[in-house]
Amino acid sequence: MEYPKDPYISIHYRKYLGLDKILSAQHLRSADLEKPAHDEMLFIVIHQIYELWFKQIIHELDSVSKMFKNDYLDENNIATAVSRLDRVLVIMNILLEQIKVIETIKPMDFLEFRNYLFPASGFQSFQFRKVEVMLGLPSDQRITYNNLPYHSPFTDEEKRELDSIEQSGTLVTELIAWLERTPFLKFNEYSFLKVYKEAVNKMIGKEQDAIRQSQYLTEQEKEMRLAMVGNTSNYFASIFDEEAHNKLIAEGKLRFSYKATLAALFIKLYRDEPILQVPNQLLERLLDIEELLTAWRYRHAQMVLRTLGRKIGTGGSSGYDYLAKTAEKHHIFYDLYNLSTMMIPKEDLPELPKELKDKLSFTFTVK
Ligand code: HEM
Repeated sequence: MEYPKDPYISIHYRKYLGLDKILSAQHLRSADLEKPAHDEMLFIVIHQIYELWFKQIIHELDSVSKMFKNDYLDENNIATAVSRLDRVLVIMNILLEQIKVIETIKPMDFLEFRNYLFPASGFQSFQFRKVEVMLGLPSDQRITYNNLPYHSPFTDEEKRELDSIEQSGTLVTELIAWLERTPFLKFNEYSFLKVYKEAVNKMIGKEQDAIRQSQYLTEQEKEMRLAMVGNTSNYFASIFDEEAHNKLIAEGKLRFSYKATLAALFIKLYRDEPILQVPNQLLERLLDIEELLTAWRYRHAQMVLRTLGRKIGTGGSSGYDYLAKTAEKHHIFYDLYNLSTMMIPKEDLPELPKELKDKLSFTFTVK
């Protein structure tokens, strides 16, 4: 900022906000080419608005990432991280809502200026890719187009920046490291895994008994349902057996280490214990982000189908088909979804030993 470093110097709204620059940054190609298209103004403004919101999201994610990287994330910090992620979520909701504004550009009105945009495309949004990478979308699980690496539209410096975020730690890898530091999974004689296994077997046993004893199911239906319960219990195999878990990691189906998964499971199951409430909120917010990002991908793809039909994109992809595939495949916090399969009813949840329960409460003693 060009202001002198004097906190009491008077400043002007227009200058402070850089409005001269921002409000003169809408250059209509159609007007330059003397074929002015009315809707091109909206097309430019909406993209600029998105880029500004991406900038804010990056600012928030960066601060959350720094808190994680400090190796020191206490209750206060986690609460701050959760409130920053809450802000990201409010913004993402707006990004989703704004697709309606884009949809006011009708197909024929878009075609008035679309040809002038070639080969510009959302593919070239560095900030969008940065958000994806900061969150932890792995480059080797991306859908590619024309066999090009996802960051091919960027400068070498930008590519290096994306690679370095991926290598130095994304929200996923930082979350894993934080979960791995969670104590309490073993406490004196108590082993979380042991009591959890017993509770799961009890729950499955109850489900099987209910099927066997049902008066409303035929023998064939009972057999089918028992087989289905058997399949569900296979899901638990990875949490009961570290080797089975590591195999799924090697196959690219899971990313959380075994220890991190157990810690996340413990947090989710005992989320009502005072010390675990904010960590649980953190896990919930990350799932919310995942859901909103996926919702945005679907909405953007639907909007593209409505505006462009099956035409190919200006960036060189198949257009709608490519975008719909990213909505289906580009997931980040999928390990957290697995935890929902591992949940057990509260009535089957084993009591924690008293000393551990005390440790997980906020205690206040007056002498
Ligand atoms: C009429 C409006 C729009 C149309 C027709 C449209 C169309 C497309 C198409 C066809 C693609 C696929 C890439 C390609 O081959 O070009 C794409 C990608 C993309 N668009 Fe849009 N888009 C529109 C508006 C927007 C807006 C307002 C944003 C906000 C920044 C945006 C962000 C993106 C992003 C980030 C990608 C890359 C997605 C990915 O690879 O996962 N688009 N768009």
